[in-house]
Amino acid sequence: MVRQKASKVVIIGAGMVGSTYAYSLMINGVVSEIAIIDPNQERLEGEIMDLNHGISFVRPVSVYAGSYQDCSDADLIVICAGANQKPGETRIDLLSRNAAIFRSIIDQIKAVGTDALLLIASNPVDIMTYITCKLSDFPRERVIGSGTVLDSARFRFLISRNCHVDPSNVHAYIIGEHGDTEVPVWSLANIAGLRFGDYCPVCSRPCAKPFSKEEIFNEVKNAAYQIIKGKGATYYAIGLALVEITESILRDEYSVLTVSSLLDGEYGLKDVCLSLPCVVSRAGIEQKIQLELAPEEEAGLKHSAAVLQEIQRQIRF
Ligand code: LAC
Repeated sequence: MVRQKASKVVIIGAGMVGSTYAYSLMINGVVSEIAIIDPNQERLEGEIMDLNHGISFVRPVSVYAGSYQDCSDADLIVICAGANQKPGETRIDLLSRNAAIFRSIIDQIKAVGTDALLLIASNPVDIMTYITCKLSDFPRERVIGSGTVLDSARFRFLISRNCHVDPSNVHAYIIGEHGDTEVPVWSLANIAGLRFGDYCPVCSRPCAKPFSKEEIFNEVKNAAYQIIKGKGATYYAIGLALVEITESILRDEYSVLTVSSLLDGEYGLKDVCLSLPCVVSRAGIEQKIQLELAPEEEAGLKHSAAVLQEIQRQIRF
């Protein structure tokens, strides 16, 4: 039996996303050690107790209240800390609060010293990933934002539901900002390798409802607002998206995921973090894949970058 290398993840922030991610990691079995850091010690103690009481039902894993010292030998540090959207708030509205929190977090991680990768989930995730790149001075390939991994999953799910096909056979990407300027890459979306123009004529099943690209994309882009209006926050799907990224890192899977990272000239864009399909391994971002985009998609990506760069110019961190 090939023994899996023991792996340690430090989660910073025991809110709904951080604790749901910890719970999802336990069920997935990809890590052997989970240290969770949160300034609210009472909340943290409750989360740790609740998670530990479930260990009998999953593969052996050590889950405990950690400190920044635990970052020194971590394989992956996942930052879920900060304010989250309230009904009516955009992700960008969280920036000033979360930028201040990140300076403290990154300073404490740097003070300990670590070879870990950094995975950012806090919103606005592209800006928070950019801030982390700048404050941490880590090599850019070791700083990853969850980006539009969740949006691409929403995109694939909605297409799969409309087309009555397994989401794992739908290849469709959302790129750019994880937010209001995100871009659907319809020109390359495909089912079983067939783009929609070729797939629909051979499909034997009627669409669940008249196929509207605009309707599907609007549902993707506005999903978080809808969920927050209904239940106050999103955390299940983002928790699972973080596990997907974690698996590709810790199992060295070289999965292609639309994570957010610091661009270095792709599409002529630099000094901005946003999502493109990236090959993700234990080393972090192995490669950013520069897709052959339709003109309107490339224009949308550049608009997304311009919006993010304008916000970056206004922040002090
Ligand atoms: C969402 C949060 C993670 O899109 O931004 O659900």
